[in-house]
Parts: sequence; structure tokens; C-alpha cells
Amino acid sequence: MTVHFIGAGPGAPDLLTLRGRDLIAACPVCLYAGSLVPEEILAHCPKGARIINTAPLSLDDIMQEIQTAHAEGFDVARLHSGDLSVWSAMGEQLRRLRALAIPYSVTPGVPSFAAAAATLGQELTLPGVAQSVVLTRTPGRASAMPEGETLANFARTGATLAIHLSIHNLARVVESLTPYYGDDCPVAIVWRASWPDERVLRARLSTVESLIDHTLQRTALILVGPVLEAEDFQESSLYAVGYDRRFRPQSADSPFAGGDEEGGA
Ligand SMILES: C[S@@+](CC[C@H](N)C(=O)[O-])C[C@H]1O[C@@H](n2cnc3c(N)ncnc32)[C@H](O)[C@@H]1O
Repeated sequence: MTVHFIGAGPGAPDLLTLRGRDLIAACPVCLYAGSLVPEEILAHCPKGARIINTAPLSLDDIMQEIQTAHAEGFDVARLHSGDLSVWSAMGEQLRRLRALAIPYSVTPGVPSFAAAAATLGQELTLPGVAQSVVLTRTPGRASAMPEGETLANFARTGATLAIHLSIHNLARVVESLTPYYGDDCPVAIVWRASWPDERVLRARLSTVESLIDHTLQRTALILVGPVLEAEDFQESSLYAVGYDRRFRPQSADSPFAGGDEEGGA
């Protein structure tokens, strides 16, 4: 018996990996994390599967469901939205499974920041503009931020920021970032990226608060950084004529004979 943690993606049911789909189809028990996992994904469960929404359950309740399945010898598909590596609460479940010696696997999913960037038709790392993306959040009722992980500290780097779980904190986001990025810095907010009711707002730090539709509160990603409207960025040398690289060596004694690992290819 194994608990399969599966990243269910940002919302669109076809943004689930094939491995995730096949695992869901093979598990007689499915635990899924509330309204962020679409019904169509649950349709991959086998006929007669026990399907449980864990949104109203405590961690103890969830572990009880898993232990029941374990006793029955039933594999469990454990679905969380987006990818499991960020804000999925997988870590605490894995720790309990290790203590109980219950086997598990982890299948990644499409994270919401990637879905939001796709909606915007935007690369978040452009040569000479930004080469880092910070996935972060502001403090919430249940989660304080570790000291040092402030928006101001991240803003000092000038990186592209992908701010999760913070749409209700927009005023604080604007106040913290403006001294570093400036009033004119572009901001994009994507609500429910990849869902049928997805919405997008493009604005600037100085205008975003007045332009936002305050009825749209949940499940939004705030992207901030000059990369969002940079047009005069330099081209990557990766495709430049004469650039010496593993897949297009310029000479027999190329220093890149061992391979380079830049993206693109
Ligand atoms: C509990 S976290 C889950 C993050 C998820 N594990 C991921 O990989 O993106 C929920 C937050 O992720 C963001 N989020 C999740 N799905 C989203 C979507 N489809 N569109 C925009 N933001 C989304 C929002 O900031 C939301 O408040």
C-alpha cells in the first residue's frame, strides 16, 4: 500500500501529468484538497472509489483516513493543487507517514506561478532584466513569515516576485515594494489561472490598488517586476550565431565539449 501525493495542477483538468492521471485511476481511495482541485480530475478515480474532500478535516482526521486505507491494503491518491513543493502541507503529512512507516510517492504538478506566467504569455527571466523568480507570500493568520523573508529583502534584489496567498494584503505589498521597484513598476494579477473564470489585471504599483476589482479575493497570484513589460532586453547568447555550445560546437577543441546546461536548447 502506498500514498501517492499528486500535484493536481493550477485548475485546468488537462494540466495534470499523465503519471498523476494514471495513479489517480489506480487508487481505490482519493483524498483531495478542497475547491482548488477540479471535479474533472476526480473523474479519473476508478468506479466505486472512496473520494474524500479534506478541506474540512484536521491533520489527525486525514491521517486516520490514510491509516484506514493502509489497514485495508488500499493505495491512496492524495491530491493537492498546483505543485507539491510549495504551500501544499505535504511536509507534515510525509513526516507522519515516515513515523508510521507507511510508504509514499510524490508526483509533481504544474505550479500556479507557471500557469499565471502562461496566461500572461510571459517569460519571468529575461536576459539582463531578471534572472531569478522569488516564490513568496505575505504573513497570514495561520502562518508567520520567518525573520528575514520580508518583501523588502526580496525587493532589494530586483528579482521577479511571484507573491502567493496575498491578494487580501495588496496594500501592504504595494507599500513594501514601491521604495525598491518604483511607482511605475509593472504588476500583473492573475486570478484562478487556467480556470474557465480566470481574470487578469495588468497595472503599475501606483495604480493597482485603484484598478483592482475588490470582489475578486481568493486564489490570485501577484507578479511584480520590470520583466513584465521589458521589450528592449538583450537576446540570450544561447541561439546567437557563433556561440560555442554542446549542441552546436564551433570547433573540435570546444571548451563546452562536456556540455553546458543553459535552457532553451
Ligand atoms: C495554498 S497555495 C497552493 C500553491 C500551489 N501548491 C502551487 O503550486 O501553486 C494557494 C495559493 O496559490 C495561488 N494559486 C493557486 N492556484 C492558482 C491559480 N489557478 N491562479 C492563481 N493563483 C493560484 C494563490 O496565490 C493561492 O492563494
